[in-house]
Amino acid sequence: MENKAPQNVSKGLRELLENRAQQDGPRVERIEADDRVFWIKRVEQLDLRYRLQKGDPRKAFERERQAYHEMNAAQAPVPHLVAEGCDFLVLPDCGLDLRKLLEREGDVSKRDQMLLDASVMLANFHKLGFAHGRPSPKDMCQVDGQMLLLDFERYKHQNNTPVGQARDLVVFAFNVAAHSPEMRGVLPDAMAAYRAAADTAIWPLAQRWCWWFQWADWVTKPLQKRPEGRSKEFKAIPVVLDLFLSDRKAEA
Ligand SMILES: Nc1ncnc2c1ncn2[C@@H]1O[C@H](COP(=O)(O)OP(=O)(O)O)[C@@H](O)[C@H]1O
Ligand SMILES: [Mg+2]
Repeated sequence: MENKAPQNVSKGLRELLENRAQQDGPRVERIEADDRVFWIKRVEQLDLRYRLQKGDPRKAFERERQAYHEMNAAQAPVPHLVAEGCDFLVLPDCGLDLRKLLEREGDVSKRDQMLLDASVMLANFHKLGFAHGRPSPKDMCQVDGQMLLLDFERYKHQNNTPVGQARDLVVFAFNVAAHSPEMRGVLPDAMAAYRAAADTAIWPLAQRWCWWFQWADWVTKPLQKRPEGRSKEFKAIPVVLDLFLSDRKAEA
């Protein structure tokens, strides 16, 4: 599966991008060079307090670099690295992320189709043996009609298993329910599209994960009642549990 994010750059342009990436700048930076758009991702600079909270940023950077190497070699639906150094990566522009695309698309059937396409893309990505770690519409883009995944700082080989892929699926559904609430009604079709394209082992594992996670619904009930906006993520918990467990409850 060859992806469509533009990847060919001349030697001169690559050197220019490498020079820019080696200069100080934000951790994620959009830049224009030679009439094209690229994104630089640098190692995050954190003080001690944040390092303790978020972990070692160099390890996260190395996880992402390793992910792009392995996923590019497997022709996975991710953009191709354009350039890299010991503390930066350069990627081609993949346009707006899926959360923004869903917010902005006025045609409901086109909008719904985007979520189905993203779900099938996740299934195909899993079928190659990979797990993302924390997939979200914020880390998905559409290039020439093809959905691509970004942001692999949580990539770990030990998650490249059906259990890790099942967790990816639940996390993806949760991020849609929490941050794109207008898409909640389409989630059952999105899950059906995932299941039709994925290994049959994944859905029961995702259900098992949700079954064990039901305590989270009970303990967050008071927080789910807070005004909209302040409790988006808590309010999404029962939606997602119902999405995965409704057929299991019906069978019980
Ligand atoms: N190659 C790219 N093309 C388009 N947008 C990108 C690209 N890389 C990053 N972005 C944008 O920047 C955001 C942050 O980048 P990401 O790699 O997800 O870092 P973070 O760890 O901060 O989430 C993404 O959600 C996306 O909107
Ligand atoms: Mg991200």
